[in-house]
Amino acid sequence: MFIFAKDTVITTYHRAQIAKDFIQHNYMNYLILQYPGHNWVYYQSADQLALAELQIAGTKFECDLQEIEIKMIANLRYIHFSTDKPLSERDLNILSKLSFVFALFKVDEEDPDSTTLTPVELPIKFHLDPKISTLLKYKGKTNELFTRMMLNIAVHSSDFAFDKKLELLDPVSGKGTTLFEATTFGYDAYGIEVEGNALQEGQTFFKKFLEEERFKHTRSSRVIFKNQGESPAEITEFEYALSKQEFKDENTRSRLAMVHGAAAEAYNYFKKERFHVIVGDLPYGIKHGNKAGKVYGSPTRNPVELITESIPGWKKVLRKGGTIVLAWNSHVITRKKMARFFEEAELEVLNDAPYDQIEHRVDAAIKRDVIVVKKSS
Ligand SMILES: C[S@@+](CC[C@H](N)C(=O)[O-])C[C@H]1O[C@@H](n2cnc3c(N)ncnc32)[C@H](O)[C@@H]1O
Repeated sequence: MFIFAKDTVITTYHRAQIAKDFIQHNYMNYLILQYPGHNWVYYQSADQLALAELQIAGTKFECDLQEIEIKMIANLRYIHFSTDKPLSERDLNILSKLSFVFALFKVDEEDPDSTTLTPVELPIKFHLDPKISTLLKYKGKTNELFTRMMLNIAVHSSDFAFDKKLELLDPVSGKGTTLFEATTFGYDAYGIEVEGNALQEGQTFFKKFLEEERFKHTRSSRVIFKNQGESPAEITEFEYALSKQEFKDENTRSRLAMVHGAAAEAYNYFKKERFHVIVGDLPYGIKHGNKAGKVYGSPTRNPVELITESIPGWKKVLRKGGTIVLAWNSHVITRKKMARFFEEAELEVLNDAPYDQIEHRVDAAIKRDVIVVKKSS
């Protein structure tokens, strides 16, 4: 697979060579128009993220992806790629769920440099409407497109097929952006959050959403763990289905649950190797602090304690072949240090390109990076 960075200089000679190769080998050329979203700062820094997300998802395509690069056409940003055969229905399904995809076009085959574009219809196969993660707005919310990117990276780096019913855990789930994104993919989603108010708001919103969409559902709460001298951890679980018929059968019901508790206690709450992916946006200490320790201290900007005390439990609840994907502020902990915590726990850190190219600036105080960790099969 050849990846050209966005500022790679491609000469006319190269273009002619590439064109010749494409015609001889029947390569197809595609352009993705990048979704601008509603956050201009995020859009501006999301070009390298889009390349990384596509390259990682491409490993699960039925065709071979080549020449993934940024192309500016009429001042609009497109992601170009070529394939050795037409995209299959499954490839299109994966593609349509990538966080940056707005529209897909096929390029004139004779000339890969052509700007004559034919639209390619993308399947719309979301389980719950993706609007779910955009409706709640609050300070400290993780950008929903960035969250979808992390989810895609987690699933496509794991050994599991994206179109199976997977189980996701977000151990620092806030009001639930990751959980809501997971529902759009049809996954069962579980969150842990230490702040009762955030949790309450997330649950109230989800209940209202299910009611407004007229989905058959139940909501129940129970204590799932109690440590001596501490308040018990309670789980609130929603079971829902898109139709009454689907609700009748346990296997076609979906689940979303939130635990009021601590990230480090994941094993005490879930008790077995069950999650296919663990995805979370660690606290940055600006709106949300990191709270660690059995008896929570005051929040800090540094998530070291949260990470180190949580890794053993996360490892135990993650299935073999599963992945952990976490975003954090790399101004506070270096990538090397972050990787070391997971390596010491004998987990594999995916560090080669494009995994090492996801770091990007959010604002003056936050440089966000994403670590991808795998539990070997
Ligand atoms: C960056 S926010 C996540 C925001 C979330 N993705 C959303 O969009 O709502 C991190 C969250 O971690 C929570 N947190 C901090 N320490 C925790 C701990 N030890 N266990 C569980 N949650 C924790 C904070 O209260 C905060 O809600």
